[in-house]
Amino acid sequence: MTGQKIDGIAVANSVKERTRAAVSELKKEGIDTCLATVLVGDDPASAQYVTSKQKDCADVGIATKDHRLPQNFIQKEIEELVNLLNNDDTVHGILVQLPLPSQINEFSVIAKISPLKDVDGLTPYNVGLLSSGRSLLKPCTPSGIMELFDYYKIDISGKHAVIINRSNLVGKPLYHLMLEKDATVTTCHSRTNDLEKFCQEADIVVTAVGNRAKFTLTEEMIKDGAVVIDVGTSRLDGKLAGDVDYDNVIKKASYVTPVPGGVGPMTRAMLLKNTVTAASISKGIATQR
Ligand SMILES: NC(=O)c1ccc[n+]([C@@H]2O[C@H](COP(=O)([O-])OP(=O)(O)OC[C@H]3O[C@@H](n4cnc5c(N)ncnc54)[C@H](OP(=O)(O)O)[C@@H]3O)[C@@H](O)[C@H]2O)c1
Repeated sequence: MTGQKIDGIAVANSVKERTRAAVSELKKEGIDTCLATVLVGDDPASAQYVTSKQKDCADVGIATKDHRLPQNFIQKEIEELVNLLNNDDTVHGILVQLPLPSQINEFSVIAKISPLKDVDGLTPYNVGLLSSGRSLLKPCTPSGIMELFDYYKIDISGKHAVIINRSNLVGKPLYHLMLEKDATVTTCHSRTNDLEKFCQEADIVVTAVGNRAKFTLTEEMIKDGAVVIDVGTSRLDGKLAGDVDYDNVIKKASYVTPVPGGVGPMTRAMLLKNTVTAASISKGIATQR
């Protein structure tokens, strides 16, 4: 059996199409959807991410406000900027690019973002809503993975899913989203004993380790017909690679996401979707349940 490649670019384009249409509907209501980005410091990778996100916004008609702060900015100054953006009615979404410089308490900055403008879904309030199954603004990578399941009509209800990751960004929110859709979810991490055994029993494996030198998901580690979602990004022989030995795993799996072209484009698309949701929330068109 050879599995099917999950085309994250195609699914992301369909999300972007819907987002573009929603942005123009909001415009008719007098709402100019706007995302404010905050970049602290001069990390080139972070700067590149912010530029890409701004381009994505422009592509679907979302305006952006660019805030770039020097590396030595202190906690209070960043939090004051977040507060200004919280109170700016023309700004619907706030994205603080992570990681922040080491002198900054990241959790404290994120906690200052209004939950109604929290397009990364990382504020404590939205994390709480997510675990109660009531959030509108969900972290982009996990919600992008859920979109992939929907698009490919992969029914996760009753299935055993193994997530290899326990971060706040990926593993923990995905646990809640999959549980909400009736999957039986096991979270694994670097201290899990006999990780291979968990993977071999799984109907769905989501891997987000991001270190090919330490970890590769091989075909021996999955069962026939498993769905494999590869979130990890690392370098292998100088090229961008995921956690999965794709060429061999796809011969045994039913579906596999490639890297690049799988989860990455979905993460970017879901930020746009969240920004439109935040704009809708601001006008009472969408409300938290
Ligand atoms: N494509 C995208 O859109 C996208 C979005 C987000 C993240 N990512 C990528 O996903 C990866 C994870 O991101 P993150 O922010 O969640 O990073 P992270 O916080 O470093 O999480 C890595 C996870 O992998 C686990 N792990 C490490 N070595 C392991 C091993 N040998 N066996 C089993 N588990 C192991 C860690 O366990 P411990 O908790 O025990 O340390 C941790 O839970 C990165 O490569 C990142 O670039 C991609």
